[in-house]
Amino acid sequence: MSPPLILSVFLLLLLLLPHRNILSLAADGKWDLLHSNIGVSAMHMQLLNTDRVVIFDRTDFGRSNISLPDGKCRSDPNDAALTEDCTAHSVEYDVASNSVRPLMVLTDTWCSSGAVMADGTLLQTGGYNDGDHAIRTFTPCSDNNCDWREINPGLTQRRWYATNQIMPDGRQIIIGGRRQFNYEFYPKKTMAEKSYNLPFLVQTNDPRIENNLYPFVFLNVDGNLFIFANNRAILFDYVNGTVVRNYPIIPGGDPRSYPSSGSAVLLPLKNNVGVEVLVCGGAPKGAYASAINGNFTAALDTCARIRIDDPNPQWVMETMPSARVMGDMVLLPNGNVLIINGAGLGTAGWESGRDPVLSPVIYRPDNLVGSRFEVQNPSSIPRLYHSTALLLRDGRVLVGGSNPHVYYNFTGVQYPTDLTLEAFSPSYLASNFANLRPRIFSPVSHSRFGYKQQLTIRFAIPLGTINATSVMVTMVAPPFTTHSFSMNQRLLVLSGGNVTAIGNGYQIWVVTPDSGNFAPAGYYLMFVVHQDIPSEVTTLLPTLEEYAEICDFSVISLNVYYWVEEYFLSFLCTRFFVRIVMHEIYTNCASKLQMSLFLMGTRYKSTNQEPLQCDDA
Ligand SMILES: *[C@@H]1O[C@H](CO)[C@@H](O)[C@H](O)[C@H]1NC(C)=O
Ligand SMILES: *[C@@H]1O[C@H](CO)[C@@H](O)[C@H](O)[C@H]1NC(C)=O
Ligand SMILES: *[C@@H]1O[C@H](CO)[C@@H](O)[C@H](O)[C@H]1NC(C)=O
Ligand SMILES: *[C@@H]1O[C@H](CO)[C@@H](O)[C@H](O)[C@H]1NC(C)=O
Ligand SMILES: *[C@@H]1O[C@H](CO)[C@@H](O)[C@H](O)[C@H]1NC(C)=O
Ligand SMILES: *[C@@H]1O[C@H](CO)[C@@H](O)[C@H](O)[C@H]1NC(C)=O
Repeated sequence: MSPPLILSVFLLLLLLLPHRNILSLAADGKWDLLHSNIGVSAMHMQLLNTDRVVIFDRTDFGRSNISLPDGKCRSDPNDAALTEDCTAHSVEYDVASNSVRPLMVLTDTWCSSGAVMADGTLLQTGGYNDGDHAIRTFTPCSDNNCDWREINPGLTQRRWYATNQIMPDGRQIIIGGRRQFNYEFYPKKTMAEKSYNLPFLVQTNDPRIENNLYPFVFLNVDGNLFIFANNRAILFDYVNGTVVRNYPIIPGGDPRSYPSSGSAVLLPLKNNVGVEVLVCGGAPKGAYASAINGNFTAALDTCARIRIDDPNPQWVMETMPSARVMGDMVLLPNGNVLIINGAGLGTAGWESGRDPVLSPVIYRPDNLVGSRFEVQNPSSIPRLYHSTALLLRDGRVLVGGSNPHVYYNFTGVQYPTDLTLEAFSPSYLASNFANLRPRIFSPVSHSRFGYKQQLTIRFAIPLGTINATSVMVTMVAPPFTTHSFSMNQRLLVLSGGNVTAIGNGYQIWVVTPDSGNFAPAGYYLMFVVHQDIPSEVTTLLPTLEEYAEICDFSVISLNVYYWVEEYFLSFLCTRFFVRIVMHEIYTNCASKLQMSLFLMGTRYKSTNQEPLQCDDA
């Protein structure tokens, strides 16, 4: 039985916050400096369902520019830079108050990966050194009491530069990483489940240069995975471990994956329309070795677009307004793609990029070839290696990071370590479009929906009149963003229509996605888009029934930590960590526990359970 997805919408009555205008308003995008110093460099970012963004870099940069709270220090004999460190390497950015709160990561998160699970918990994997086998979770909270937690080791292989994707069954697949030609799942199906070989990662590995790290992975609507590395891709049946389709090499043959970092997105998904992937930029063959020798070669100026569900797939090439390596590609609520950040010369890697590309570009996938790209207003801040960008609920794009150096270096270098946060506001937020901007009344925040459900959305166009033939509803999965790739990023255009007037506004019917292949259970941002202008957002939540149906409550691994009354378990049935409250304090690892399973705050089941594995103190 296919699990129902229950979508819960929360309508946040959040208006654009006052920020400093750095550049004057223009029809083609506006930049605002949100923060001159958030304390860490935004190497990895994830938007959570609390409207907060978790940001982190690495523990072995040495001291960051923000202290851990309450005089805490991290003592880690294995840390490569500082064994006693009283600074934070992660922060939580609260969009509404535009403030940051320091968080404490326990081991090295450098060049790691992650994705948000169906319950809204960020599950983040790997890193470097003592963190390369770690699984960390961050469960969102609104009371500032949540922090990173860690299961270490939690992975069977070291995962450094790997890519994660949420599966329709709710688990995550973690693919590749440096010198890892394999993948694994989390949670595991059995305690004994190991990793599985993926020969494609051997085949796409350029000796000593790689060019296949942080592969671009997308869940196709047939349930298979599109995996792109270097200059080509496969369609992979991860259930049977077989390659279903080999896609051709991108014309020209130049690499697009780390360190020749281009970027990629799954273009907006619509019912009964082809599924397409767009790969943009990168660096030509040989560029990495050249950059190491101080010869910074021009980045690629092409995008390659392909229908991944076509039995005879072909890449179609397009030329960008300028060359770009280390760009980020962000799906905007109206289905356009923002290409932002990066450099015109060199590659990813320490000190290997030059000529920052300050102007983002918008790509309109539905326009005719030749009229798809539109150059936007530039920022004044270079965003080179280790920079990031992600969509916020109000339609702005949060931009941060850039540190091409092994340490934090603010002086004596060409591109100083950057600790700022900026927002890029696409032109749809400009005041001259305010009369078109919808505002959603219902469903309200945290309402829940299943798959294939008819849903009525009520909204108003407070300042103007509606063009009823130009309304659509989109859903965006908030991605985990690092190293020019946004893992788990997908946008669905919901089918439906028939806009009708109601008392104080309008309503539109839509049908929620068909299955977890289209939209794995989880939180989504939902927008009503009117004449290309998106509303503020609502958010969707997975259903409780989903777990009740499937969960047999058999624990496959248990890691007990001495943190209040909360414990992490991973379940055979569930897709993520659940919160467990223990009724009896155990005396040793072999004793039985009575536990209650809470899902989204509701007691689901209690049981006696024997821990199978236990970090005893
Ligand atoms: C952050 O940087 C400022 C300016 O360089 C410095 O005065 C301050 O001490 C730093 N704070 C921490 C916690 O490193
Ligand atoms: C995987 O293998 C099973 C058993 O051989 C088969 O029934 C199923 O169709 C396969 N899945 C795909 C996607 O080919
Ligand atoms: C720089 O690198 C490019 C490509 O790798 C190469 O074609 C060119 O000859 C190099 N230039 C120098 C001065 O080495
Ligand atoms: C960068 O920072 C490190 C650590 O503080 C320092 O040792 C190094 O000299 C700095 N590099 C430059 C070019 O200033
Ligand atoms: C209404 O939207 C349609 C479709 O986008 C467009 O062709 C038409 O020009 C719009 N009408 C007005 C009055 O803006
Ligand atoms: C559109 O909605 C109205 C009011 O709900 C309904 O009467 C009408 O049948 C609908 N039309 C279509 C084509 O669904």
